[in-house]
Amino acid sequence: MGKELSLLNFMVLEHGTMCELLVKFRFQIDHIRNEDVALRAFNNFKEKEQEHVFIEENVVFDFNKDIKKIKVLDVIKKQHKAILKLIEKIDEDLKNKSDVVANAQQLQELMKIHVRLEEEKFYPVLDKELKEHQKKIYNGQDK
Ligand SMILES: [Fe+2]
Ligand SMILES: [Fe+2]
Repeated sequence: MGKELSLLNFMVLEHGTMCELLVKFRFQIDHIRNEDVALRAFNNFKEKEQEHVFIEENVVFDFNKDIKKIKVLDVIKKQHKAILKLIEKIDEDLKNKSDVVANAQQLQELMKIHVRLEEEKFYPVLDKELKEHQKKIYNGQDK
């Protein structure tokens, strides 16, 4: 059999990149305080996170009907909404030049909880499903 499928490994890397981009943004607003640089740092995070959520919601969660039965999926989807909402709020804050620290802190906390939930309770289950699916294909039972 070929190399084992592991979405978890791939997603751990993706999540790491996003959290790092968020840390860079926090560093800008906490220490450098240059609005243009902070905005650029935030946009880097925003672009990557919006794309990531889009792929999870429109490709990963739709993989098959069993995925929809994974218990934590509803919580994950709610967290996605809250994350996207906070991103919008921070966008507004930055545009209006108002204080962004509270929302940024909240976003960082939520991202930590979210990433942990996906990595502990969602992607390991999905990987198991994928393995089963792969086995069925190899055995010609993919009907
Ligand atoms: Fe997510
Ligand atoms: Fe994710």
